[in-house]
Amino acid sequence: MAKILVTGGTGYIGSHTVVELQKVGFDVVIVDNLSNSSIDVLNGIEKITGIRPAFENIDCVDYVSMDRMFEKYKGIDAIIHFAASKAVGESVEKPLLYYRNNLVSLINLLQLMPIHKVKNFVFSSSCTVYGQPDVLPVTESAPIKPALSPYGNTKQISEEIIRDTIHANPCYQSTILRYFNPIGAHPSAEIGELPSGVPNNLLPFVTQTARGLRKQLLIFGDDYNTPDGSCVRDYINVVDLAKAHVIAVQRMLNKRAKAHVETFNLGTGRGLSVLEIIKTFEKVNGVSIPYKIVDRREGDIEKVWADPSYANNELGWTATETVEDTLRSAWVWEQKLANRVKAE
Ligand code: UFG
Repeated sequence: MAKILVTGGTGYIGSHTVVELQKVGFDVVIVDNLSNSSIDVLNGIEKITGIRPAFENIDCVDYVSMDRMFEKYKGIDAIIHFAASKAVGESVEKPLLYYRNNLVSLINLLQLMPIHKVKNFVFSSSCTVYGQPDVLPVTESAPIKPALSPYGNTKQISEEIIRDTIHANPCYQSTILRYFNPIGAHPSAEIGELPSGVPNNLLPFVTQTARGLRKQLLIFGDDYNTPDGSCVRDYINVVDLAKAHVIAVQRMLNKRAKAHVETFNLGTGRGLSVLEIIKTFEKVNGVSIPYKIVDRREGDIEKVWADPSYANNELGWTATETVEDTLRSAWVWEQKLANRVKAE
């Protein structure tokens, strides 16, 4: 079976993708520097699939170590590149850290691909490249808007680097996946999101507030031009998202891609507001989330949701989990984390 390198494979989306890859029989090698994840994630993956993936604690920015890793695991067929810094606010404070981490790691991988004869590359991009789209739902052909943060800029520049590199080397192919807002956890609750420190993203803040770790959730603005005034996003179940990576890899390996670089939106096609998420979370889990409306957060997009029909038709992939089940899975996972802390 084909061998897949997953950078950032102990991270949130990475770990769920490793599980789905192993389930269909792929041989997985994880490279992660554990800067925003824990080695214990390997136990969770092993509990679900019965297989402990190969793991190397390497920073993708380190070219020499990456080169050695490719030598050690000869015959890698495809790379799924998740490893990146992703906190929007931090990227504004430390732009060079973001440009270095996100761009140098990508350039290293693209440079090492021909040396080690790896032909297929999947890239984690983001709907952030669309900024505030003029037309909703947003399709892949919507214009790319100036990035609102260095983080967002790294995703735009990375997409361009990939396109230019593959254009110059057409025996390589790449799939760019633009994620909307991934939420939830694996239904086994063996893996899930593990934010370090105060969460930036909505869902971990909601679950930590429900657990009592945070006093209240701050809702960033209720005066947007949306039905209830709070921002609207396309929240997608993380396992649904992970499954799309397996299909993207299979499509390239089976030579079914229609272009050297293909780009897909990965979303549900449905927009939900912050208040709708909170109300649904409270209802399905029988908990209450104390919250307060505060000022808008700088850089937030008012509303964005995907037109996923290109991915639906071409990949034969659709997000199937309901938001209710997804919000249940997020709460089960948070409770499991709480029990772990108690047991320690
Ligand atoms: N929100 C709150 N309170 C919080 C956290 C978030 O009200 O404590 C709101 C935000 O204002 C936003 C929504 O919840 O309206 C979602 O916020 P997230 O931070 O969870 O997600 P974003 O849509 O801002 O950002 C996400 C990813 C980025 C990615 C971006 C693309 O975190 O990596 O989507 O739009 F670039």
